[in-house]
Amino acid sequence: MYYDNYDIKHLKNIYNELEIEYKNIKAKNISLDISRGKPCKKQLDLSNQLLKLEMKIDNLPLDLRNYGVLDGLDCMKRIFAEILNVEIDNIFIGGNSSLSLMYDIVSIFMLNGDMCVNPWSNQGKIKFLCPVPGYDRHFSICENLNIEMISISMNKDGPDMDSIEKLIKDDDSIKGIWNVPIYSNPSGVVYSKEVIERFAKLKPKAKDFKVFWDQAYVLHTLTDEFIDKDNIIKLFKDYNNENMIYIFGSTSKITFSGSGVSCIASSVQNIEFIKKVMSIKTIGNDKLNQFRHIKFLKNIDNIKIHMMNHKEILKPKFDLVIKKLNILKNIGLIDFIEPKGGYFISVDTIKGNADDIINMCKELGLILTPTGSTYPYKKDLDDKNIRIAPTYLSLNELDIAMDIFSLSVKYVLLKKLINI
Ligand SMILES: Cc1ncc(COP(=O)(O)O)c(C=O)c1O
Repeated sequence: MYYDNYDIKHLKNIYNELEIEYKNIKAKNISLDISRGKPCKKQLDLSNQLLKLEMKIDNLPLDLRNYGVLDGLDCMKRIFAEILNVEIDNIFIGGNSSLSLMYDIVSIFMLNGDMCVNPWSNQGKIKFLCPVPGYDRHFSICENLNIEMISISMNKDGPDMDSIEKLIKDDDSIKGIWNVPIYSNPSGVVYSKEVIERFAKLKPKAKDFKVFWDQAYVLHTLTDEFIDKDNIIKLFKDYNNENMIYIFGSTSKITFSGSGVSCIASSVQNIEFIKKVMSIKTIGNDKLNQFRHIKFLKNIDNIKIHMMNHKEILKPKFDLVIKKLNILKNIGLIDFIEPKGGYFISVDTIKGNADDIINMCKELGLILTPTGSTYPYKKDLDDKNIRIAPTYLSLNELDIAMDIFSLSVKYVLLKKLINI
């Protein structure tokens, strides 16, 4: 670490300078929040056409205002089939949130079991594998449903497959694994083709083991390119595992995060099962919103152009954060991998400091995701990971936020070093 090169007198001088900076910032009564991955107003404005579309529904063969069409409009299915690279028959359209579909599916397995056989809740303690750091709300679903979580470390090309294969081989209480395979939340990791193939080949002891594949950021590139995806349902089928995979997606971060359209993609047999159990919960989801989205999004080529407009807004924000983080990284105070897409940057501080840094940011008016949020049970045993969400703030606000973050990292580490 950079500070190791200096004697105590010099360190105290640096500390005194940081203290002045701390007082100056504190006096400004700043109030900023980089805790959640929300699109900013400019991004939402990109889809305002959705609010202005003329909804000519009179001559359609189906009255969209009425009940029905549980699994969604075919044209909406076609759009998701293109986004996820699966077939139309593999799609079930949900309401405005893919997270709520994930909660539904895990609850259905708990209550009804796979294909309505042997509910998980009748099988004693069940467990999920959770690549970490990961998406806090996946972990909350498990916690809420009393599913034990086992952390799996995340490598540069996806989760540690050796551990996954070993664990599920002999333990039939392990029923599932969470994944965000493209631009993982929060690390930005993109699963390699080899890792994906190993998923498709898994041989779990539990016959009702499921792979949850959350494609929340599938088109959310920060470069000029999109990730090339194989048809993963087909890939799983090649290894006789086609009923093992459940893919989730939504337009939350394509159009409006509160009013988008969501979907599940899975084998035809699973989609039939989903329709059967979902028909108890609803007569159908919002077809008028689906219709609006069909007219606005049109097809994958048009959506890609739209996503490039998102990128134009987000790239300068990520660049700014990365520039400021690199200053800290170059002097050994933090580590991070530059993401090529998604909504987050995952920062590792020196062990034992994340909580103190987050608290100091809070004192200075900057809210970060609470310590441990990216880990099961909100416990980051190394107390080192901090998730940064650069999307929502303006560039000016982000500049101030990152100054607060940088100051807090330096101040906390130095304070400990000189024992104050
Ligand atoms: C990985 C991941 N999945 C799902 C969601 C939520 O998706 P939705 O808005 O479709 O419920 C988020 C939101 O931040 C996310 O990061």
